[in-house]
This record gives sequence, C-alpha cells and structure tokens, in this order.
Amino acid sequence: MSEANEFQDRMLSLGLARVSEAAALASARLIGRGDEKAADQAAVNAMRDQLNLLDIAGVVVIGEGERDEAPMLYIGEEVGTGKGPAVDIALDPLEGTTLTAKDMPNALTVIAMAARGTLLHAPDVYMEKLAIGPGFKPGTVTMTMSPSERVSALAAAKGVSTENITVCVLDRPRHEEMIKEIRSTGAAIRLITDGDVAGVMHCAEPEKTGIDMYMGSGGAPEGVLAAAALKCMGGQFFGKLLFRNDDERGRARKAGITNFDRVYTRDDLVRGDVIFAATGVTNGSLVSGIRREPGWVTMETILMRSKTGSVRRIEYRTPLK
Ligand code: FBP
Repeated sequence: MSEANEFQDRMLSLGLARVSEAAALASARLIGRGDEKAADQAAVNAMRDQLNLLDIAGVVVIGEGERDEAPMLYIGEEVGTGKGPAVDIALDPLEGTTLTAKDMPNALTVIAMAARGTLLHAPDVYMEKLAIGPGFKPGTVTMTMSPSERVSALAAAKGVSTENITVCVLDRPRHEEMIKEIRSTGAAIRLITDGDVAGVMHCAEPEKTGIDMYMGSGGAPEGVLAAAALKCMGGQFFGKLLFRNDDERGRARKAGITNFDRVYTRDDLVRGDVIFAATGVTNGSLVSGIRREPGWVTMETILMRSKTGSVRRIEYRTPLK
C-alpha cells in the first residue's frame, strides 16, 4: 500500500470510531429504560447517518437483516459518500439490546471495515463458536474436541490445572449439557445473558477479563464481528453454521454458501486486514460504559487495525444536548 493510501486507511479508522461513538451516544438516553426497540432504532439511525459521511464506497455485508426485513443498514445497502475505497462493512449498531434496556454489562456498538469481498456474508442463522486468546499453537483447541477435551487441552497449553480455566457461555437451555460437561472438569463458567461479541473478545485479554475460552452457539453475524475483533487483538476463532430448517438453509444459499458443514477459521471469516471499532454502552470489562453527569456524556471506544496490531482506547467526552 502506498504511503498516501496508508494514511487514508489510518484516517478512515478514526472515522470508524466516530461512527461507533455516534451510535452509542444515541442509545445513551435509553439505557435502563426497558425499551429494546427504541434503543436499537436510535443506534441504527445514528450509525447510518455518521457512516454515510465517510469517504468510502461501502456495502453492508453484516447488518440489520435482509432488505425486506430492515429498512436501514440492511445487507447490500451502499453506505458512505461513494468517493473512497471499495469496502465491506459489518456492523451491529447495538450488540446487546436487552443488556441496554436492562442496564446490564457489556452492551456495545460495533463496526468493522475491510476490503471489498473479504468478509463472509454470514446469513442470519446460529453459529457454533469456539474462541481462545493469543499465544497458543494452532490446533490447541478444535471444533471436533468435546467441551471437556477443550478445557483440558487449553489448561495443558497454559500449564495450569483445569480449575484455573474460565469459560464464557451464553446462558441458554440449549447449552445445559455443555455447561454440565465443562463443570465436570472443575473449570469455572462465566454465564452471560447476551452479547457474545464481547464474550469472544474477552478471551483476548484474559488477565483483564478473567476469561480464557468462549464456547457455544449464537448469531452467525456476531461470529463474523467477533472474528474481526480477534484478528486485531490476536486469538483463535472457529465457527460452524447451524441450520434449524429449510428457510435457514435457503438464507445461507442466498448468501452464497454451498458447504453447510464447513468449520470456518477466523481468517476464513475475515480474509484480509480489518479495522474494528466498538464503543461501550453499558459497563464492561473491556471498555467502560457511557457515563452521564450533569451537562456531559463520556464514553470509551476500542479501535483496532489488524494490519499494524494497533489497539487504541479512546475516551470521548461531549456536552449533553
Ligand atoms: P441482540 O443485540 O440482537 O439482542 O443480540 C444479542 C445476542 O445475545 C448476541 O450477542 C448473540 O449472538 C445472540 O443474541 C444469541 O441469540 P439467542 O438470544 O437467540 O440465543
């Protein structure tokens, strides 16, 4: 990449942080108000308005849904001024709508940008996910291992006993068996009610978050966003699409997916370099949530580029309008 392009890439990354901040700012007044839809809508509107100011020829590949389901930020929507580089955009204006409505931890606004054609167009189905942080050999844990084998393998790689491993899992009835099996190893489980993008990201900074591994099924679009984050932070991610019916298989075919049994690695989901930004809406272990004080609102954004491995945490304070 030429020096000028590299500079533009850096400037765009700062622009992406502003997009993420705008969505968080818009949802701030809806934290803890019990209205998930209003919080989501506010974030969507603000993210879209800010995104359209960026000098990019962007196409939303992970968004709010299919065109007929989502009027804004739908899959395929062209975003940006159209003047800059051709890019794929993956976003979730409010990852954790219920967390926001109930003022529970780890709600984020999330956006990732990569060269056109490099992000998987994941259909809106479930994905089986497995993630660990940086510093482990390839093959340390695999999708073919059972949950207890993964715990033992990770403990061995870390040189600790299984009691010293903490696994993050979405608290869902579908995970009951897996939770039992993980607990049978002596490992601890951090159950989360929502927000598995944050759950996966927690694996990248275990000293800070106390989480070593993420396991279980959640949204496939969130899987691509989580893979983008780990590509910047370091760490391994595996995802396999799960289909409950023909409608879901149809969605996958429409998204260009032909092999329904494929295990995607982090770099299959995000095939080139990526820029990732997430702003804390409610408090979390990775970034602080929005703080309101008389006259001011303050928020924190994590902004990362996989190309350079840079991770910025930006605190933004602005007058409350
Ligand atoms: P929303 O922000 O749309 O509420 O999604 C939150 C989330 O918890 C994701 O993080 C996760 O991937 C998915 O929902 C899990 O889906 P389900 O609630 O169906 O188990």
